[in-house]
Amino acid sequence: MKNIVVVGTQWGDEGKGKVVDLIAPHFDIVARYQGGHNAGHTVIVRGEKFVLHLLPSGIVHAGKSCVIGNGVVIDPTALLSEMDELAARGIDFTGRLHISNRAHIILPHHLALERTSEQRRGIRQVGTTLRGIGPAYEDKIGRRGLRAGDLLHPERLKRQLEEIIGEANDILQMRGAEPIALAATVDDLLGKASRIAPFVTDTAVWLNREMSAGKSVLFEGAQGTMLDIDHGTYPYVTSSSGTAGGATVGTGVPPTAITGVLGIMKAYTTRVGSGPFPTELTDATGERLRARGHEYGASTGRPRRCGWFDGVVARYARMINGLTTVALMKLDVLDDFETIDICTGYRLHGEVLDTIPHDAEDLEAVEPIYETLPGWQSPTVGLTDFAQLPTNARRYIARLEALVGCDIGLVSTGPDRHDTILRADSQLAGWLT
Ligand code: GDP
Ligand code: IMO
Ligand code: MG
Repeated sequence: MKNIVVVGTQWGDEGKGKVVDLIAPHFDIVARYQGGHNAGHTVIVRGEKFVLHLLPSGIVHAGKSCVIGNGVVIDPTALLSEMDELAARGIDFTGRLHISNRAHIILPHHLALERTSEQRRGIRQVGTTLRGIGPAYEDKIGRRGLRAGDLLHPERLKRQLEEIIGEANDILQMRGAEPIALAATVDDLLGKASRIAPFVTDTAVWLNREMSAGKSVLFEGAQGTMLDIDHGTYPYVTSSSGTAGGATVGTGVPPTAITGVLGIMKAYTTRVGSGPFPTELTDATGERLRARGHEYGASTGRPRRCGWFDGVVARYARMINGLTTVALMKLDVLDDFETIDICTGYRLHGEVLDTIPHDAEDLEAVEPIYETLPGWQSPTVGLTDFAQLPTNARRYIARLEALVGCDIGLVSTGPDRHDTILRADSQLAGWLT
């Protein structure tokens, strides 16, 4: 039995898409368990680039079964346009895409409400992707959401929309925003429902059955540990559980079925949107990381904030997710730095902390404690053998392993599938045999 969760260990964009694509051939099913089209997972196949938002990255592998689990929120327009775009590029969905009947649907009022709430927060805004993610999860938790299974019942759907949109319009009007037109929303959704319905099923039952028949599942997390609704830098987080535990709640697969957790970790740190970021570099060094790493959002195109590797965040991610092993991404981006800093702890009002304060204002106020390592200043781009890495690069990796308390089983040296070092004696290599 082999059921592995791939999880982001920082603030998202660690390179989850590349790793899922790389290891997907060794699994039978790839399942997304939370988030929505706020995610942007980049996969590069023989020089051809795909950015997956809502569909699991496994979809680019012909014949691989893919699941959009109950923990995901689905914007029907975004789903259909992603499917159309991929179909135009030769990807066939027949019989291999399964959408949970319990996954919640993003509706027009979610986008409108999010715009008004971000405006009202002013300088405290979260800097969301403005895709309706947060308000859709609010409706889910508020027990008034519309689910994918409801798309199969047009009559009921109309009645549900009347209630949901009626309530949302009261709030929108109170905030001075345009109300949502009910009839147009119903018509639009009914049109899309007929295209989505054939894929909708009870994915928890389907997944558990497949697993009983010996099939293996790769769970693809979106966002990252520090964006998790419970464990992240609240309130500057997304609205779902992107940590490893979310994989079970978000698919209906029991925790006892998970056999390992693979943490995806960038060799430095990035963040999109607002909120505390202790190792952020707002100087020329940060700019250099952004330029070398092409750090611009895969979903929104926003420049990503960049900074040094944060060992406090990484250790926390190891604990929260129970990481079995780590994939270290974008090592090549550090190739020409003379020296490289690693944050080993925080100082808050003179006191040394080795864990993350729960309060965003405290986290904003911490001073990172750095250790400086010599750079390697030679190209690692495209290397596939650990022994070929420069000595200082190997030292950097060993220091991160000691700091995080977890083995690094994979080192990524470029965006392509092939720019990868898989360490032969690692737990990860064991999973892939
Ligand atoms: P995800 O959201 O975690 O899937 O990550 P994104 O796709 O948003 O961002 C990662 C970016 O880094 C993408 O543009 C990838 O093509 C790129 N990438 C992944 N691994 C590497 C690597 O090892 N080196 C370099 N230079 N780029 C990489
Ligand atoms: P992947 O899966 C990086 C960030 C947004 C914002 C916060 C809340 O590609 O790693 P939301 O729209 O989710 O309510 O925004 O979360 N965010 C991400 N940052 N990578 C992502 O996904 C993200 N998804 C959301 O920028 O700060
Ligand atoms: Mg991304």
